[in-house]
Amino acid sequence: MNQYVIAIDQGTTSTRAIVFDHTGNIVSSGQMEHEQIFPQAGWVEHNPAEIWNNTREVIGSALSKANLTRHDIAAVGITNQRETAVVWDKTTGEAVYNAIVWQDTRTQDIVNELAQDGGPERFKQKVGLPLATYFSGTKIKWILDNVEGARARAEAGDLVFGNTDSWVLWNLTGGVDGGVHVTDVTNASRTLFMDLDTLQWDEEILGIFGVPVSMMPAIKSSSEVYGTVHTSQLLREVPVAGILGDQQAATFGQAAFQTGEAKNTYGTGCFLIFNTGEEIVHSKNGLLTTVGYKLGDAAPHYALEGSIAVTGSLIQWLRDNLGMISSAPEVETLAASVKDNGGVYIVPAFSGLFAPYWRSDARGAIVGLTRFVNKNHIARAALEATAFQTREVLDAVNADSGVPLTELKVDGGMVANDALMQFQADILGVPVIRPKVVETTALGAAYAAGLAVGFWKDLGELSANWSEDKRWEPQLDQAEADRQLRLWRKAVTKSMDWVD
Ligand code: G3P
Repeated sequence: MNQYVIAIDQGTTSTRAIVFDHTGNIVSSGQMEHEQIFPQAGWVEHNPAEIWNNTREVIGSALSKANLTRHDIAAVGITNQRETAVVWDKTTGEAVYNAIVWQDTRTQDIVNELAQDGGPERFKQKVGLPLATYFSGTKIKWILDNVEGARARAEAGDLVFGNTDSWVLWNLTGGVDGGVHVTDVTNASRTLFMDLDTLQWDEEILGIFGVPVSMMPAIKSSSEVYGTVHTSQLLREVPVAGILGDQQAATFGQAAFQTGEAKNTYGTGCFLIFNTGEEIVHSKNGLLTTVGYKLGDAAPHYALEGSIAVTGSLIQWLRDNLGMISSAPEVETLAASVKDNGGVYIVPAFSGLFAPYWRSDARGAIVGLTRFVNKNHIARAALEATAFQTREVLDAVNADSGVPLTELKVDGGMVANDALMQFQADILGVPVIRPKVVETTALGAAYAAGLAVGFWKDLGELSANWSEDKRWEPQLDQAEADRQLRLWRKAVTKSMDWVD
């Protein structure tokens, strides 16, 4: 009875459900991809109904693969792609528009307009974020401004907003039949609307954006019982007890609980999070200030974050848009067939550049092309782009903290790529360490939920579950690493100031 915790990981490209045992090991899982909708250049959408259907499916497949029923599950944790905005009608349960995904840049004009009074950092001191298309706030405003009748319905109190954590939670707990409209502090800290000090919605900023406060979910901690699964669902009556945005969840799953600990997750994008403990640290080097986690009534832990929009999705782009490879792992074979990048650098500024530059006027660039270059060099440059971007973020973390990181814990899909991890260590000049369980995102959400219901008793128990699988030491000659980094930085300058 109750020997497992299930985590729902509602990510950018897929939704997964993973069942964990008490030692943090995976018992079973289910996964489904959802459609990436690109209505025009710079726009990225998901269908919220598809996401909810997939969530139910993957819960079912994770349970059935291990012959489990709801009686075996102590709690449900939710983790999610952050910032992606869903606005739905709480009386019909239907979204009024597709989810606008975090990568979407359609709100650039809204950003520019808001920045006219006080510049792009006008809210940063309070919310930890610069004005950028990345965050949920401008996406909600866009829906209210552009979907016919939406503003009136929002003002009448019928429409509500959530990131996909709230969307999944509301549906899981009953939807129109009493669904709970809640988010956690980590997701709330990605909207541009939450005051980092009070952990409450800032009504003045909401007013400036024209977003009614009635649309916003209640902000709760990352680890407490928000409600129980509705009787119509497979997991009926199981408590939903943990929510963490996916990058904060990965940090938690890596057991990076101490001030000064950090992790980097290699997924669609890359997100380096550095735990600053109970202190709110404002970056001078292009990092975001965000909430790391808050366990029940305990004080919140804050973090600095270096968000990189495009890493793994560059490899998908080589596959889907250029047809250069037929599966993502093939990129490693191509890259390994050449001794270096042949002088090619790819800056994948598809959504502008995020940390540490925050340049929405940047667009992707491939530089250094000669007649010598072939697709193997392009593959290699695509992989290397991930490592260079991470290096720039790590430099910013080191500059902000004043104490250079001596190693980096990594996780996410791309850490299976040995050549990339070696190159990462080479370009960082510090060891890169992969834990045994690399599904740290789902694990973090499971931990948050399990802690709330007493499945795990404290953080010490979670730390004891962490163990090292592999470590890559820097091997590249320092002068060569510096040379390559110089060229990378030059390439970055070529990608900027591109949008007319
Ligand atoms: O901020 C965006 C991030 O939460 C998305 O992560 O892993 O779904 O690409 P992922």
